[in-house]
Amino acid sequence: MVKITWISLVASFVVYTVFINVLCHNKTPTPLTKEINQGWEIWQNKNCQACHQLYGLGGYMGPDLTNSTSKVDVAYIKAVIKSGTSRMPNFNLSNKEIEKVVAFLKWVDKSGHSAVDFKNVHWTGTYIID
Ligand code: HEC
Repeated sequence: MVKITWISLVASFVVYTVFINVLCHNKTPTPLTKEINQGWEIWQNKNCQACHQLYGLGGYMGPDLTNSTSKVDVAYIKAVIKSGTSRMPNFNLSNKEIEKVVAFLKWVDKSGHSAVDFKNVHWTGTYIID
């Protein structure tokens, strides 16, 4: 009896793992380019994460930026980074550096969602991206 239970648990685990990874995982990750990497470096050097979250992790003074490039106009994003706001410092980034940060934010945006919208949760526990 113990053996049957054990075997069926292992079999369920294997079937479920294959199901999730092969059948449900149809999204290929966007490859990292040099520009995205440089944007990431600026993000780290300027410590944007101190005030902003990515995937819900980071500081809470500013908004979560995981899906910023699809939620707000990219021109607005560039303008905020260029000039700062009353609460966000101006980091004196050049237009080229801003392009790199935006490329990084676009890459992050494609990689996932920060807040889970419950209507998109599949019964398998995976998240459906529409
Ligand atoms: C000292 C805290 C702080 C730091 C550091 C900071 N920000 Fe911000 N940021 C904010 C706040 C606060 C806002 C919201 C606008 C406001 O209320 O002034 C904001 C807004 C933004 C927005 C607009 C997002 C939206 O949805 O409106 C972007 C894009 C942004 N920041 C990018 C960056 C980047 C890139 C860096 C690093 C180079 C950075 N921020 C560093 C505080 C910060």
